[in-house]
Amino acid sequence: LKEIHEQAAVSAELLHWLESAQTVTPILERIQKARHLYLVGCGTSYHACLAGAVYFGSIAGRPAVPVLAPQFIAQYAPALSPKDVGIFVSQSGETKDVLNAIEAARRSGMTIYGLVNVIGSTLTQISERWLPLVCGYEISVPATKTFTNQVIAFLYLALHMGNVPPSSLARLPELMEQTLEKVEPQISLLEQYFTESRDMYGLGYGSTYPIALEGALKLKEVTYIHCEGMLSTEFKHGPLSAVDEGYPIIFIAGPEDVPLIVSGVNEVTCRGARAIVIAEENRQIRSNATNMITLPPAGSLFLPVTSIIPLQLLSYRLSVARGYD
Ligand code: F6R
Repeated sequence: LKEIHEQAAVSAELLHWLESAQTVTPILERIQKARHLYLVGCGTSYHACLAGAVYFGSIAGRPAVPVLAPQFIAQYAPALSPKDVGIFVSQSGETKDVLNAIEAARRSGMTIYGLVNVIGSTLTQISERWLPLVCGYEISVPATKTFTNQVIAFLYLALHMGNVPPSSLARLPELMEQTLEKVEPQISLLEQYFTESRDMYGLGYGSTYPIALEGALKLKEVTYIHCEGMLSTEFKHGPLSAVDEGYPIIFIAGPEDVPLIVSGVNEVTCRGARAIVIAEENRQIRSNATNMITLPPAGSLFLPVTSIIPLQLLSYRLSVARGYD
């Protein structure tokens, strides 16, 4: 809970650091010329890679391949070349799966960059260049503040590469603070619907797809409830058949995706599911969802950063409610 609450402060630290960093420009210049750009990590760090790929593609027009570290070796090692760039993402900088992927990348001669929290870790020693996450110690095993700063670092790089002035990022720390204040009381009202659940889904689309995966990971990791994250449009291709009375499904909706998400909501509520939608206030969502968790207005750019906060808090609250220390 302490680290969830630290997120706004460490995001401000990161933005401040990035503004004065000498490493950002050479990294961006190299990425721009790369044949392929790979974003590689495990667990939560991989989910940040997924969000980074959405930002690079949609803001900077730079396709990026997000990939889980062990699969990077199996799928891409034989195809890598010195023309490629990999950004290896890790809170600890010591995850063996990531270090193994770097070893394979090294043999190909590709450029290796790191996005890492622990300075002095193996990842900082073996990357050509690295950017720090500036989060301070992360003591908690479930990653929270390092995830939001990983996503913000990718957003910063994508805005620069897309020649979009990153000045709008200055309001992000305050927005994260507002999000915490706004969602905390809403989560306490809703937790009763989940305490007995054994199984649930988190569904997102576009930039909230990685958030659905990350929210599901946090829920599994600390509440021991099985929760699967998925692209919302995939739900009808099979999993929908598991839905029955009261089945909890959390949707995360961006302002541009409202019609799509509402159609997904209706598909599950007509089978009796409880559809909880995380989104900015919206009449259409409010009248179709079973419950809504309202975010402060922020627009689609910041949505991955704000929308993970209620899922982190829900994981914490449910864990406490279920009696886990
Ligand atoms: C989940 C979590 C893990 C880590 C993963 C990678 O809350 O903490 O999924 O994200 O083990 O760890 P790092 O980022 O240290 O490489």
